[in-house]
Amino acid sequence: MVNEFHQKHGDYSPYRISKELGISQHTVTKYLDTEQPVKSDNSKLSKFAGEKIANNILSVNTNQQSILNNILTLYVPSLHFDADLTYSKGSFYRKGNVAEPRYKLDKFPQTEDTIELDNIDDVIGDEALESVVFDLPYIVKTSWVNVASKVMELYKSFDSAEELINTNKAMLELARRKLKRGGIMVVKTQDTCVATSAGAKQLWVSQIVLNHAECLNLAHEDTFILVSKKLMLTKHEKQHRARKNHCYFLVFRK
Ligand SMILES: C[S@@+](CC[C@H](N)C(=O)[O-])C[C@H]1O[C@@H](n2cnc3c(N)ncnc32)[C@H](O)[C@@H]1O
Repeated sequence: MVNEFHQKHGDYSPYRISKELGISQHTVTKYLDTEQPVKSDNSKLSKFAGEKIANNILSVNTNQQSILNNILTLYVPSLHFDADLTYSKGSFYRKGNVAEPRYKLDKFPQTEDTIELDNIDDVIGDEALESVVFDLPYIVKTSWVNVASKVMELYKSFDSAEELINTNKAMLELARRKLKRGGIMVVKTQDTCVATSAGAKQLWVSQIVLNHAECLNLAHEDTFILVSKKLMLTKHEKQHRARKNHCYFLVFRK
């Protein structure tokens, strides 16, 4: 019955089908042929002449290169970042899916053409960049984090919450100083948990970045959310808070 109804009304969402047939949405999704993509109810979205809804840029994605390209498409006319301040090995640009930045910088350079971040003033003048991106580590070393992991070795970590917060603020200030007026700053960031004497505590890094950006008079243009497809789950006797499986790409304009 569900499949037959869906064939007749191909553009009805599972929610609408459930209302029309008087059954639960769970039952609808269970009976719908999973091989056949269920069309969402687009009737409430405005359609522009000749444009396909499928081409719309959405705020949530499971692919970080799609998010980066979407940000470039919407905000950076040159379609590449002028500078990446935390280039590392350049996984943002892997396989050429995202255009390489003009300047690659990092506090701990990992490639031959990456400039040491401490030398930025020698190569990039103030107010010289149209766009800049950075992606700092979000891990604070704790007894429960495996400090020997390869990811930690490559991407580094902070010794304390204070160091993480101060570095984020300093990077926002540096990136702002290097941006032209009207330039775009993209910050990849993630909330985290830190150990305190009273147990694990949430550290809302994204909120700290947003607050400091506001203090610096940066306009918050957009937020993109990257949802992880894979998650290494940990064993624990009792879970106390949601395991974070998303991070943010915050877009600011000077
Ligand atoms: C998560 S990684 C960046 C990954 C990069 N976006 C990529 O596509 O591969 C974090 C980077 O921040 C740099 N970093 C670590 N500590 C830093 C600090 N205190 N100040 C500035 N950069 C730092 C690391 O060297 C590392 O390359």
